[in-house]
Formats: sequence, C-alpha cells, structure tokens
Amino acid sequence: MKGIILAGGYGSRLYPITLGTSKQLLPVYDKPMIYYPLSMLMFAGIREILLISTPEDLPNYRRLFGEGKDLGLSFQYLEQPNPGGLAEAFIYGKEFIQNSPVCLILGDNIFFGTGLPDKLNRAARIADGAVIFAYPVRDPERYGVVEFDENYCVVSLEEKPKKPRSNYAVPGIYFYDNQVCEVAKSITRSHRGELEITDLNNEYRKMGKLHVEVLGRGVAWLDAGTPESLLQASSFVQAVEERQGLMIACVEEIAYRMGFIDKIQLRKLANKISGNHYGAYLKEVINENEQR
Ligand code: TTP
Repeated sequence: MKGIILAGGYGSRLYPITLGTSKQLLPVYDKPMIYYPLSMLMFAGIREILLISTPEDLPNYRRLFGEGKDLGLSFQYLEQPNPGGLAEAFIYGKEFIQNSPVCLILGDNIFFGTGLPDKLNRAARIADGAVIFAYPVRDPERYGVVEFDENYCVVSLEEKPKKPRSNYAVPGIYFYDNQVCEVAKSITRSHRGELEITDLNNEYRKMGKLHVEVLGRGVAWLDAGTPESLLQASSFVQAVEERQGLMIACVEEIAYRMGFIDKIQLRKLANKISGNHYGAYLKEVINENEQR
C-alpha cells in the first residue's frame, strides 16, 4: 500500500497565520502538524509516500523530509496548482499510485488513541473497495456524515448536510483499492468547483464496496484548522506527553519501533536535534530498558 498526504489548501480559517506559511507546517505543541498524519501512515506500515502541496509550500516540505531516507521512507512530491478538492489527489497522484492500493490522509488531521495501529493495519489490507472511518461528533453538519447499518454497511454519505442523518463524521483518512484513480476520473466537480472526496466515496458505496470502521471513545480526532482547534490540539498533546513522558507522533521513534531504521540511524537523528527536549527524548528511546 502507498500513502498520500494532502498538505495544500488555503488555510484561510487561520489567516493571517497561513498567509506566509503552510498550515501543515505550523507547530502542534512540539512538532510540525504534518508529523501527526505521517505517523498514521507509518503505523499502517506504509513507506512509499507522496506529499501534495502548493507550488509555494512544496520546497519547505522537501527541506523537512528530503527523500525520506532518514526515516526509512521514500518521499515523492507533487504540486497541486490550486486547491481543487481532496479527490484531486487521485488525478494528480495517478503516476505515483500506478497499480497499488492507496491511503489518503489530510495533513491537518490528528489522531490519537488505543487500538489505532491495529485498525489502520486492518484497513491497509483492503484489496477490493474502500474503507472510511466514522467518528461521533457533536456538530456533524460541519463534516461529511456517514449513516450505516448494524453490519457497518454504509447507507448514506452526505457532505455537510443541513439535517445530518447520524452524528458520525468521516475523518480525513481513507483507504482505497487500486481502482481509485479510475473512479476519481469518473466524478464531476461539485457546485463549489471541487472534486469532492464524498462523491468519490459515494461511487464506492453505489458499487457496494464502501466499508466503515468506527473510531470510538478511546480515540481522539482533532483537526487543527482554526485558531481554537490549533491551540486545543497543542494543549492536548502537551497534556498527554507531559503526563506519560511518551511522545505522540514522534516520527523518528515510530520509524525505529516499526523497524524502518536501526539504532545507529536513530542516534544520528537524535544527534541532529540534540540540545532540546525532543532530542533528549530520542536518546531515551535509544537507551530504554526492556520495561517500557
Ligand atoms: P480544508 O481544511 O478543507 O481546507 P484548507 O486547509 O484550505 O483550510 P480553509 O478551509 O481554512 O481554507 O482542507 C483539509 C486538508 O486538505 C488540509 O490539510 C488542506 C488539504 N487540501 C489540499 O491539500 N488540497 C485541496 O484541494 C483541499 C480542498 C484541501
């Protein structure tokens, strides 16, 4: 399975902060926002990653990740000239995807909680169809809303409905089989001129090939697209990390624990960031004893 991180967009809800920089490079407590979605792909065992962003912002992502080798990953980069919708990832990303199944994650979506790696691994095994997730929220009308039956078959899927048919929002992580580029080609632009991910998912639903997995109480899903939610996300990460002494979405640690890099490489990365709390944490991971 390959992975795509969509890290473009206007970020207009964060203006003026995002007038000079990409939203997904902003800090969420102690690391760039994009580390959080990247860690999700890594947990799913995905190592070939395409990062899509604006022509202005792409050089900064390249500076951050290079070819991805430091993390035992392989990164490619692609420009999205204008933010024309999430499903454009499968138009622009066709050459990267080739004949592989693919996971798309939005660069401003942050997940944390028990059982996530297992759920991701299961979804990543999809050979036929698509997997989306369902997460209960208080204000479903702000999101894509999914309604499903007792067998987790999707009954309806609507984008920002005025009268939501359930309180389950669809978070910004989606798994598809190798037909996704074809299916994306078949949908048309919405009234807002975008290739909508909900329309793409509805095509899979019509084929009877859209599966849903519920993310329950044990999982936090945060998006960091407004000043309030950005601050909340930072506070959340700070609270958990300080309490546990363990980091959330430390991609260097995850690369090591997933076996993408060895201890020698982790030490190199730690030395690069030495002199602060992040580097010290990486050194702790290197030196940890069996009990942790
Ligand atoms: P949004 O939060 O829907 O849009 P945005 O980031 O442009 O923010 P705003 O609404 O404040 O203007 O986008 C969700 C994620 O997807 C975000 O990480 C940006 C990314 N994105 C793209 O990369 N390309 C696109 O065409 C769109 C619509 C979003």
